[in-house]
Amino acid sequence: MTTRLATSAGPHATRILGLGHYRPANVITNHDLIARGVETDDEWIKTRVGIAERHWADPDETVVDMAEQAGSKALAASGVSTADVDLVLVATCTMPTPVPAAAPNLAARLGIDAPGAFDVNSGCSGFVYALNAASAAVLTGQARNVLVVAAERFSGWLDMTDRSTCIILADGAGAAVVGPSDASGLGPAVWGSDGAQFDSVAIDEDSHFFRQEGQTVYRWATGQMAPVALAAIERAGLQPADIAAFVPHQANLRIIEALARRIELPNAVVARDIVTSGNTSAATIPLALSRMVESGEIASGAPVLLLGFGSGLAYAGQVVLAP
Ligand SMILES: CC(C)(COP(=O)(O)OP(=O)(O)OC[C@H]1O[C@@H](n2cnc3c(N)ncnc32)[C@H](O)[C@@H]1OP(=O)(O)O)[C@@H](O)C(=O)NCCC(=O)NCCS
Repeated sequence: MTTRLATSAGPHATRILGLGHYRPANVITNHDLIARGVETDDEWIKTRVGIAERHWADPDETVVDMAEQAGSKALAASGVSTADVDLVLVATCTMPTPVPAAAPNLAARLGIDAPGAFDVNSGCSGFVYALNAASAAVLTGQARNVLVVAAERFSGWLDMTDRSTCIILADGAGAAVVGPSDASGLGPAVWGSDGAQFDSVAIDEDSHFFRQEGQTVYRWATGQMAPVALAAIERAGLQPADIAAFVPHQANLRIIEALARRIELPNAVVARDIVTSGNTSAATIPLALSRMVESGEIASGAPVLLLGFGSGLAYAGQVVLAP
C-alpha cells in the first residue's frame, strides 16, 4: 500500500497587507564621491546612470539593523501582530558572512517568537522571489502571515577605485507583510534565469569587491526584460492599460526609461527612486514601492507591475495590488 501524507491548505488568496522602508541617514552626493577621490563628475553620473545621491550606512550599521527598521514599519502598517507571523524571509546578498542568515536574528529583534526563518539570495531580483515564497507558504497553510524584508549594505563591498561601480550601489531596506485575502492581490510570478551569464554581476572571490560587465547587463536588461513584464501582466489577467504603476529594479535610470518605453504602460506612474536612493539591489523594489505608496503616488488597491532582474542572471516579474 502506498503511504499517503497529509497535506495542509490555507486561504485561497494572498496579498500585501503593509509596506515599510528604511534609508540610512548618510546621504552621499556625487560631489561627495569626488571629494572622496573618485574620478568622476556629477553630470556623467546623472546622464549615464541617473543618480544624484544615494544613502550609505554608518560603519557600525548592519544589514539586520536596516532590515529591522523596514520590517517594524511594515508590521505596523499591516496591523498584523508579531504573534501572528509564522515565517520571516530576508532577501539579501550583502551579509558580511555566508552564515548565519539574517532572518532568524531579525525575527528575534522584532519579537517574533520562533518563526520559520531563512534568507533568499537571488541578487537584485531577490525580493520578488521572496514575495512568492511567502505567498506559497500562506496558500499552503504553512504560515498565517509572512514578513518579507529586502535589505542590502553594498557600501561594504565597493572598490572605490572602480568608478563604473562605486557610483551606483547603495544601502537600504524595504519590507512587506504577506497574508490571507478574500481576493488575490498577488498575480502569478513570471521568473527565470540565464545562468550562462552567471559571472556578469558578482562579488569577486579574491578581492571581495562588487564587479559587473556593465554593458552586458545593460543589453540583457533592455533587450530581454520587456517580454517578461508583458507576460506577468497577461498572467495576472490584465492589460497594459490596467497597470497604475511600474516599479522595476532600480539599476540605472536609462534602463528604467528604456523598459518603460518598450512595455508601453499608458496609465502607469514609473518608479525613479534611483535618483535619490541609488541601486540597493534586492531592496530597490520594496523601497521604491513603499515610498510611492506612502507619498500617495500609488493608491491603495492599484495594480503595480514589479520587475526584478540582475545577478544570476535571474529575473522575476509580477503584478501586485498596493496595500
Ligand atoms: C555601468 C554603466 C553605467 C557604465 O556605462 P558605460 O556606458 O557602459 O560605460 P563604460 O564602462 O563603457 O565606460 C565609458 C566611458 O565612461 C567612463 N566612465 C565610467 N565610469 C565613469 C564615471 N563614474 N565617471 C566618469 N566617467 C566614467 C569610462 O572610463 C569610459 O571612458 P573611455 O571611453 O574614455 O574609456 C552601464 O554599463 C550600466 O549602467 N550598465 C547596467 C549595469 C547595472 O545597472 N547593473 C546593476 C546590477 S543589476
